[in-house]
Amino acid sequence: MKKVHIKSYGCQMNVYDSQRMGDLLAPLGYEATGGPEDADLIILNTCHIREKAAEKVYSELGKLRQIKESRGRNGSAPVIAVAGCVAQAEGEEIVRRAKSVDLVFGPQTYHRLPQLLKSHAETGRSIVETEFPAEDKFDHLAKTKAKRGVTAFLTVQEGCDKFCTFCVVPYTRGAEFSRPVAQIETEARALAEAGVREITLLGQNVNAYHGMGLDGEIWSLARLITQLSRIDGIERLRFTTSHPRDMSDDLIAAHAENQKLMPYLHLPIQAGSDRILKDMNRGHCAQEYLKLIDRIRKAKPDIALSGDFIVGFPGETEADFAETLNVVREVRYASAFSFKYSPRPGTPAAEMAGQVPEDVKSDRLARLQDLLGTQQKAFNEACKSRDMKILLEKPGRREGQLIGRSPYLQSVYIDAGEHAIGDMVNVTIDAVGSNSLSAHIHP
Ligand code: SAH
Ligand code: SF4
Ligand code: F3S
Repeated sequence: MKKVHIKSYGCQMNVYDSQRMGDLLAPLGYEATGGPEDADLIILNTCHIREKAAEKVYSELGKLRQIKESRGRNGSAPVIAVAGCVAQAEGEEIVRRAKSVDLVFGPQTYHRLPQLLKSHAETGRSIVETEFPAEDKFDHLAKTKAKRGVTAFLTVQEGCDKFCTFCVVPYTRGAEFSRPVAQIETEARALAEAGVREITLLGQNVNAYHGMGLDGEIWSLARLITQLSRIDGIERLRFTTSHPRDMSDDLIAAHAENQKLMPYLHLPIQAGSDRILKDMNRGHCAQEYLKLIDRIRKAKPDIALSGDFIVGFPGETEADFAETLNVVREVRYASAFSFKYSPRPGTPAAEMAGQVPEDVKSDRLARLQDLLGTQQKAFNEACKSRDMKILLEKPGRREGQLIGRSPYLQSVYIDAGEHAIGDMVNVTIDAVGSNSLSAHIHP
């Protein structure tokens, strides 16, 4: 057996891609290992979204070079590969900056990994493969066989045509593409057979999904969800990330009607000022977003809302930032992610006038996170004494304790008694912390 270590950075799509790379490598005799020290193949599956994320890769490559050099002395140097969005964005630059790298390939070429390994073994030369290939990567991926646990990700849509002015994704992942329903259903059934109970459908713009349906028509995400919810064994479905512009009526209705679709929606607005939203090229204003939230809440009153925010986008004034805080106050988020704007090479916003100083960004981020933290706490507090269904996912810290997820994606600690991972249990929430809940099972 050979050993592979895959380290994922960035979003859930990278987690999914890393698992699929593992699936591709299994037939070649590779098994996963926990760290880089004893691996024959090390893959960094990278993220380019903010400068910090991209720079992490180079510091990791510095450490790996030492491992490679010391193991090279006894003839067992590992192969080092850089995959993902940094690979796509920087290509050749990576092998120039980090000489120890053997393979560089992007998110749309990782299905060629077996050939790339073979060519590298034959020639000993480093290979950079970052073209967007004509063939469909998904047609070339091995069938999912490995165990996945109780929950799994499933990419249904990739790429993005929205071109928000701050974002690298349209360049690193390419044009928007939806997988056909039949292909997705086959994969979902395989996951169910492997013991998966909850699937999160992934896409950079997942609600823009428009894939070939079973009847030859183009299906929406809502129709895809209806189809997948018929699979025995799949108890819960989620999807992420959605764009406000693609939040269609049928998808809102699905939240009201489909019992397997969980009451949780990640719907980023990024900023609250209409001028900033326009400069971001988001294609909607704050009022439209708030109206949309109203419609969603009418359909599903208990839905947990989540979002992403960027502070310090070029030209953002204190008054603009105050509008972001206003939107947050109005929506009342259950959880959220927030970031300081990071200028990315090649994106329009990086060239815009009015770049905001670092200390101003830090100050705004702290104030925003303060407010979001208070809202998360309030959402969790409101769950106290409520009854809900929990899917048990993994062992807890204490003996006999398991950790599960609530419908709202909260982590819940439970003394599980006879129950096992994979069981769905009815609980009452006893206590509430800022990041997790605890509960007892009732019969
Ligand atoms: N497709 C998703 C988001 C993908 S990136 C969407 O449209 O919402 C995840 C988050 O990273 C974004 O929502 C945004 O908040 C943040 N982000 C993207 N580019 C960024 C940048 N240049 N600086 C700071 N944060 C950024
Ligand atoms: Fe990036 Fe905007 Fe596309 Fe989201 S919608 S991936 S933020 S360009
Ligand atoms: Fe990062 Fe690429 Fe995902 S840039 S956030 S890994 S799509």
